[in-house]
Amino acid sequence: MLEQITQLQSQAVSDLESVADLDGLERFRVAYLGNKGSVKQLMASLKSVPTEQKPEFGKRANELRQALESEYKQRKQSFGDDGQRQTGPAVDVTEPGTAADLGRPHVVTQTIDGLLEVFGRMGFGVATGPEVEDEYHNFVALNIPAEHPARDPLDNFYLQEPASAGGAVADLPGGAQLLRSQTSTVQIRVMETTPPPVRIVSVGRVYRPDEHDATHYSMFHQIEGLYVDRNVSMVDLKTTLIQFAHAYFGAEAEVRLRPSYFPFTEPSAELDIKMQVKDRWDWVELGGCGMVDPNVFEAVGYDPEQWSGFAFGLGVERIAMRKHGISDIRWLFENDVRFLKQF
Ligand code: DAH
Repeated sequence: MLEQITQLQSQAVSDLESVADLDGLERFRVAYLGNKGSVKQLMASLKSVPTEQKPEFGKRANELRQALESEYKQRKQSFGDDGQRQTGPAVDVTEPGTAADLGRPHVVTQTIDGLLEVFGRMGFGVATGPEVEDEYHNFVALNIPAEHPARDPLDNFYLQEPASAGGAVADLPGGAQLLRSQTSTVQIRVMETTPPPVRIVSVGRVYRPDEHDATHYSMFHQIEGLYVDRNVSMVDLKTTLIQFAHAYFGAEAEVRLRPSYFPFTEPSAELDIKMQVKDRWDWVELGGCGMVDPNVFEAVGYDPEQWSGFAFGLGVERIAMRKHGISDIRWLFENDVRFLKQF
């Protein structure tokens, strides 16, 4: 008689194994655990079991019932709401995924794109020049003589012994190589290869051995502009810069031209913009500008009697700082994503 229990058990286990959905499970329940199921019948057959086997038979039959009931419950839970058997962990495919971290252009790059866009609309083309320059293009052709303090080795990243140290050779084309200290070099390179009229801007890195602080960095970007034509006047310069400032910063931006001096322009001015410095609004210099000096035209073979022009060179980081209210230039170059992803 005990044989019968073992048989029923193995039959039940294999039936349960092949159950594929809720309907199949229900058929299993009815067949084994239902009122007329095999387990009930087994219990009913207890009376015909010989007396000495009764306790063992009863115990084993009970164990079988409990085992099948708990197997049945477990299996029932493993079917999802749709009644299909679930294999892996539950996945809700309708839930939004984890967003991937997307990169973006650096705020300085965004600023450069914006500047080129505004000057592009004003009719300026784009020119480029090398970051490793020679003394001729960085100084000489720009009317900066050998004894000028801007050529001091302490204020430049020379890659070779400066020719200006030797005096006379300084004013010949060429000279020592250095990391350019200004993008005005590109004015010379463009005029050397292009006949007038000229209307270009050039953006790039410049290098100066400055101590790093909130407003100075040893590498920064400038946007250089050059406009050469017949009868260009200071009015054209002023109009261009003011229109640029209003187009780029908004009509409410306050800018002014302040008289200044640069060897390659005459007259010269500095462009200031009102911006927040710590807790108050103050004039901050964005860069220099002026009417191209006749000596510069002569250096590139333009006739200063026929041609006139204006030029400007503005700090790109300053512009970005004014645009976004950034108060420390060093933040732009620390590459802290928490800072950069605000822009
Ligand atoms: N190159 C000058 C500087 O780095 C800025 C500048 C002044 C550029 C006057 C110009 C200019 O084109 O006309 O300080």
